[in-house]
Amino acid sequence: MTVTKSQYSVAVLGAAGGIGQSLSLLLKMNPLISDLRLYDLANTPGVAADLSHTNTTCQVRGFMGADQLKDALKGADLVVIPAGVPRKPGMTRDDLFAINAGIVRDLCVACTEACPNALINIISNPVNSTVPIASEVFKKAGCYDPKKIFGVTTLDIVRSNTFVAEAKGLDINDVDVPVIGGHAGITILPLLSQTYPKCDFTAEEADKLTVRIQNAGTEVVEAKAGAGSATLSMAYAAARMAEACLRGLSGEPDVYECSYVASNITELPYFATKVRLGPSGADEVMPIGDITEYEADWLAKLKVELTGSIQKGVDFANQ
Ligand code: NAD
Ligand code: LMR
Repeated sequence: MTVTKSQYSVAVLGAAGGIGQSLSLLLKMNPLISDLRLYDLANTPGVAADLSHTNTTCQVRGFMGADQLKDALKGADLVVIPAGVPRKPGMTRDDLFAINAGIVRDLCVACTEACPNALINIISNPVNSTVPIASEVFKKAGCYDPKKIFGVTTLDIVRSNTFVAEAKGLDINDVDVPVIGGHAGITILPLLSQTYPKCDFTAEEADKLTVRIQNAGTEVVEAKAGAGSATLSMAYAAARMAEACLRGLSGEPDVYECSYVASNITELPYFATKVRLGPSGADEVMPIGDITEYEADWLAKLKVELTGSIQKGVDFANQ
């Protein structure tokens, strides 16, 4: 087993935003992280000063504006990107493409120059397209490693675990529902048939839960009524994903999370399934496993939408 390091440098890009601030707090509390860099276009000096008063061992520094981006990234082991605009009611995640595609592209260009070997966790929507954009940027720069770029879909797993535990009266700490596909509407496919601990769902229960999980982001967008999308649950989910990546880097065995990554599991070049995290990032992309006819129907439908979203990202990065 390769044990690389036990303490890591992590950069958050978009750190002064709704997700960025809560996520930075959770990362500041993580003993695996010794050096936290907060980058945004504005307000990071204040957020960093505030966080620096918490008595955890991790050091925190703020970086503001494009001039300071590369300093924020230099030597980072992991870069988490929640930079970009969130949805308002009535919008799809794809409606964010016009603004967020360019933001993710430019931030990834800086990563290729300042920390080409870092793991990249992309939160900015539409994830189904921003992960292909990031990958194309790294390919163009000649430093693409498909094991290092992750679309963060952890919130779909967090939600599935919560909703299933509530519906079936299970201990929420025990429940694990894999979620595959992508991260938008019908491309989100919870595999309820693979729920741990093993659980039976009627057809009606499975349909109700599946559709709720697919629309859970919209549930929050509507409840926030124009004030943005999920931030607290997303920060929680992103902190869990970041920790899994760092535990994998440190050589800890058997670290698994679902994530949207470069994949040979289906005919699509990017797809979310369970991934084994290790010293080089996504050390193994796991197969889908056995699924029901109901899940297979969704899988066929989601592949059509996901194919279009992937192509849109690839085309944008190469235009
Ligand atoms: P927000 O508006 O509160 O914060 C976004 C931050 O990004 C702002 O502070 C802004 O200044 C910053 N930013 C914009 N352009 C930047 C750039 N070029 N460089 C650095 N920072 C930049 O939004 P939020 O609620 O934190 O959401 C951020 C993104 O995360 C949105 O795209 C949203 O759709 C996405 N999101 C994804 C998931 C997921 O499951 N993957 C969940 C929730 C939200
Ligand atoms: C979510 O699932 O909460 C995020 O993708 C944000 C959104 O726009 O729904």
